[in-house]
Amino acid sequence: MSSTATTIFAPDMAPVAARTSYVDKVVRQFTIMTIVWGIVGMTVGALIAAQLFWPELNFGIPWLSYGRLRPLHTNAVIFAFGGSALFATSYYVVQRTCHVPLFAPKLATFTFWGWQAIIVLAAITLPMGLTSGKEYAELEWPIDLLIAVVWVSYAIVYLGTLVKRRVSHIYVANWFFAAFIITVAVLHIVNSAEIPVSLGKSYPIYAGTVDAMVQWWYGHNAVGFFLTAGFLGMMYYYVPKQAGRPVYSYRLSIVHFWALISIYMWAGPHHLHYTTLPDWAQSLGMVFSLILLAPSWGGMINGLMTLSGAWHKLRTDPILKFMVVALSFYGMSTFEGPMMSIKTVNSLSHYTDWTVGHVHSGALGWVAMITIACIYSMLPKLYGKKEMWSTRLIDWHFWTTTIGVVLYVAAMWIAGVMQGLMWRATNDDGSLTYSFIEALNATYPYYAVRLAGGLMVLGGMGLMAYNAWRTVRDTVRIPVIAIPEPA
Ligand code: HEM
Ligand code: HEM
Repeated sequence: MSSTATTIFAPDMAPVAARTSYVDKVVRQFTIMTIVWGIVGMTVGALIAAQLFWPELNFGIPWLSYGRLRPLHTNAVIFAFGGSALFATSYYVVQRTCHVPLFAPKLATFTFWGWQAIIVLAAITLPMGLTSGKEYAELEWPIDLLIAVVWVSYAIVYLGTLVKRRVSHIYVANWFFAAFIITVAVLHIVNSAEIPVSLGKSYPIYAGTVDAMVQWWYGHNAVGFFLTAGFLGMMYYYVPKQAGRPVYSYRLSIVHFWALISIYMWAGPHHLHYTTLPDWAQSLGMVFSLILLAPSWGGMINGLMTLSGAWHKLRTDPILKFMVVALSFYGMSTFEGPMMSIKTVNSLSHYTDWTVGHVHSGALGWVAMITIACIYSMLPKLYGKKEMWSTRLIDWHFWTTTIGVVLYVAAMWIAGVMQGLMWRATNDDGSLTYSFIEALNATYPYYAVRLAGGLMVLGGMGLMAYNAWRTVRDTVRIPVIAIPEPA
């Protein structure tokens, strides 16, 4: 790619002949499964939110109990919904920015079926109570092995496509995707090192505090690379594409990339404040978390400023609205995270619903909303259609999701701070002012609000599924050659 302008725009500069030969079947499969797993994962999320309000909703059945469904929710939304979206968009973007079809298409097909098999195995084993007990890495060793094989295959397909590219420049979205793929491979393999004792049980090779540190090095970087870097890759391709504008600052995007990936690695200890982890390591995690604010906001500003000159499009394009709100939530959660990593603040927030509010401002506000926007932007093109079947339904989806996420997050913020303050309140004689049950009772109204917000988000996903189905089935097909390209 020769001129800077082309580099900045990167999206789809390939000649039509090359575009028609893209390997898009696997992209279509992952795209549809993103919507399916989004609905499944969020349904389980709504169910456990309801169980926290009505505990008897487990009907006394062990595999419907909260402790088993919670990891099912996190695995389904992060790895099935988020993971499928990442596979779909990375395969879509790498072909269009490198001007070549996917390397090893059969291996790409294997990654699709392998990933779906992993998800189904997770959906069976987690409710059965089979778990390694490590958060976000609960799956037992046979599934861990399968994950490693599928992930390495993914790396081969993705990096192989980058290697055989027909343009010299590697567009910045690919940097983020590549970092995400390579880092997740390392995180998974190191954190899942375990000794099997039976088909369904293993023990980690690490012990005590070391095990905890490895786990949260994994856990935090799963947030940094799975839930952030990959989605920033999406942002850098689809936001300019949807806005019809170049990335605000290509230089900033490169600084953003290197700063983000080098700082994230060191911030994990903020999950282990006031534990047996040496105090210096906790402080190191806190300092790196505070520094992390800068590159995170650099990325958010770069995304938002890409809309300079295109803000008027927000009036008519609900996909852009999704993108702007997603970036705003990214900014909010990456401001909140560094604040929560300050040890004195963490002594209030840890163990409370404040953490859950932070998680969902990142996971629902940022991850789910940018995913939804990118799928709406990509899906019609994948099926040779001009646009989604109904723009009005996208608008409805936007409003239900935005209001739902705000209700969810605000309820958890208030509940969290209230819990923290109630737990630490003492009387003059040093005794606790409130019993635990009193704090729990005070939380119930907020659990109801969270459930209402979650149901709105879930309802929006229903609208998306219907709209997608009608788009695939109904709209008049347009010839690929007529797809308009941005300047
Ligand atoms: C309809 C939407 C959703 C609802 C109703 C929902 C509900 C819940 C509930 C009730 C919990 C348990 C909180 C607790 O243990 O106190 C939870 C945890 C979690 N959810 Fe969701 N969720 C939704 C969407 C999502 C999405 C889209 C993601 C990620 C992309 C996500 C990621 C997580 C994570 C990572 C946790 C664990 C939080 C922690 O350990 O602090 N959720 N969710
Ligand atoms: C600058 C960026 C960020 C920093 C410094 C940060 C920091 C933190 C801190 C201090 C906690 C609480 C740890 C505890 O008390 O146990 C936390 C929890 C969490 N954050 Fe963030 N955060 C950031 C961004 C994000 C984003 C963008 C997401 C989601 C997309 C996210 C997802 C999570 C999750 C899932 C947890 C809960 C982990 C658990 O205990 O299960 N964070 N984060």
